[in-house]
Amino acid sequence: MVSNKQEKIAVITGAGGTLCSEMARSLAGQGMKVALLGRDIEKLKIVEHQIKSAGGTAISVSADVANLEAVEKARNIIVKELGFCNILINGAGGNQTQAVATINEFDPKELEEPSEGFRGFFNLDMPLFKNVIEVNTMGTVIPCQVFGKDMAENGGGSIVNIASLNSYRPLSRVAAYAMAKAGIANFTQWLAAYLAPANIRVNAIAPGFFLNDRSQKLLMTEDGGYTDRGAGIIRQTPMKHFGVAPELIGCLNWLIDDASAGFVTGIVVPVDGGFLANAGI
Ligand SMILES: NC(=O)c1ccc[n+]([C@@H]2O[C@H](COP(=O)([O-])OP(=O)(O)OC[C@H]3O[C@@H](n4cnc5c(N)ncnc54)[C@H](OP(=O)(O)O)[C@@H]3O)[C@@H](O)[C@H]2O)c1
Repeated sequence: MVSNKQEKIAVITGAGGTLCSEMARSLAGQGMKVALLGRDIEKLKIVEHQIKSAGGTAISVSADVANLEAVEKARNIIVKELGFCNILINGAGGNQTQAVATINEFDPKELEEPSEGFRGFFNLDMPLFKNVIEVNTMGTVIPCQVFGKDMAENGGGSIVNIASLNSYRPLSRVAAYAMAKAGIANFTQWLAAYLAPANIRVNAIAPGFFLNDRSQKLLMTEDGGYTDRGAGIIRQTPMKHFGVAPELIGCLNWLIDDASAGFVTGIVVPVDGGFLANAGI
């Protein structure tokens, strides 16, 4: 198995971020050559440096994953510097504050003149709403098309998309992100069925609540306690903590392993401390 992994080339989008930087370090530690994709090259370079310092192979390539031309250019650089992609992890994604409501249900106040820091559904910024959907959906579809084509030409591969608990039921406030992540689960199933004859398995991981730079501010107070929303999430999470990135690695390793997961395609695996299983009463 190890020698098999050592020959593999993994492309990881969103690799400068909290969850996918951990995935990149882990795959490189197992001997794979990894291509780190994101917009901010400085963030990617930090991860690249960590991987190289540990003896691994990594390159950083800046690209907006929702832009076909940019992803094709990135693919050409990766092919030239590392070779063809065998494993694609679509981790790039996220939310935009002005596309997120600050309330859980309709409040007549949202019909009045907009006020700073208060957003109901009727106050959401529609261009940003659309951008969240585009980055989180097309930002997965486009790399699947670009790198999936190489996999199909080369006899197979494995794609892991990053879904969310929103893929199952929408969480309050985050309508655009929720519908996009529901789309990721749906697209994962569609693509898995479509690409099975090409020997490409397509699965997704649905992380529960993991702290990142953005959610840290929403869920934690400066003194290390929980905000109201953070406390609500912990109440609903049977394991009573937020996830940490290494807790995703076992699931990722299994999904990309052609031996132990060779018959697994089209599934979305929650890694959520029991959040989805809990009825909450
Ligand atoms: N953290 C959680 O609790 C959680 C839960 C469920 C699902 N997820 C999903 O897991 C994935 C990783 O999340 P994370 O917590 O690690 O977030 P993160 O730290 O914000 O990382 C996301 C990365 O995606 C990159 N990105 C965003 N838009 C991009 C674009 N258009 N083109 C290229 N790169 C782009 C960003 O890099 P640049 O700034 O360089 O563009 C960022 O480093 C995301 O898809 C997220 O939706 C997270």
